[in-house]
Amino acid sequence: MSCRVVVLISGSGSNLQALMDQADPELCQIVAVVSNRPGVLGLERARRQGIETAVLDHTGYADRDSFDRALVTLIDGYRPDLVILAGFMRILTPAFVAHYHARLLNIHPSLLPKYKGLNTHRRALEAGDQEHGATVHFVTEELDGGPLILQSAIPIVAGDTPEALAARVQQREHLLYPRVMNWFAAGRLQLHNGRACLDGDPIGPNGLRLENTEFDMREMPDA
Ligand code: GAR
Repeated sequence: MSCRVVVLISGSGSNLQALMDQADPELCQIVAVVSNRPGVLGLERARRQGIETAVLDHTGYADRDSFDRALVTLIDGYRPDLVILAGFMRILTPAFVAHYHARLLNIHPSLLPKYKGLNTHRRALEAGDQEHGATVHFVTEELDGGPLILQSAIPIVAGDTPEALAARVQQREHLLYPRVMNWFAAGRLQLHNGRACLDGDPIGPNGLRLENTEFDMREMPDA
């Protein structure tokens, strides 16, 4: 049976595009895309692929709890097996996170556990780091703190700006997220006793590195 996926976005949806392009049709189906912001490019991308879209504008809600309750009702209408946060720029309530326990994924533009929160590219540059990257993880109550699944690293080079870094990190994001979605859809990826497991084996606290998986390096864009 195909894994039903709902993707939540707030913006341009380049990760959504990668998910739509690389979803294994034998394993999963993106059944809906939900945005908390009207008029964003990600919604247009979904429509172009014939995927149902919905907007739930957070500015119409008095508080986080009431917004998240409405969001759960909306998402559950699509009967998802997996909910994917793809640039969904909202802090989620514990009730929301608990409701989707073990079936909620996020992508974050840093090599977690480094640089949780915002402005990750600037912070990596200011710290003088030699590498930076992106991480896909299961979502738990702690912001950007859930069990890590898969990361990819790029070198930081002389003269890098936050914008240049962001663009190169996003290229890696577009490789990471579809892989993880397809793993989940195939039943290979699970959250067990607070640990992410691939093919039954616990993933270490730093997650897997894309560069060390079955990944074909010829697919890697220049970093
Ligand atoms: C992505 O780079 C993602 O890592 C980041 O937002 C961007 C969305 O881009 N997410 C976060 O910062 C979450 N903390 P996209 O809309 O083009 O996919």
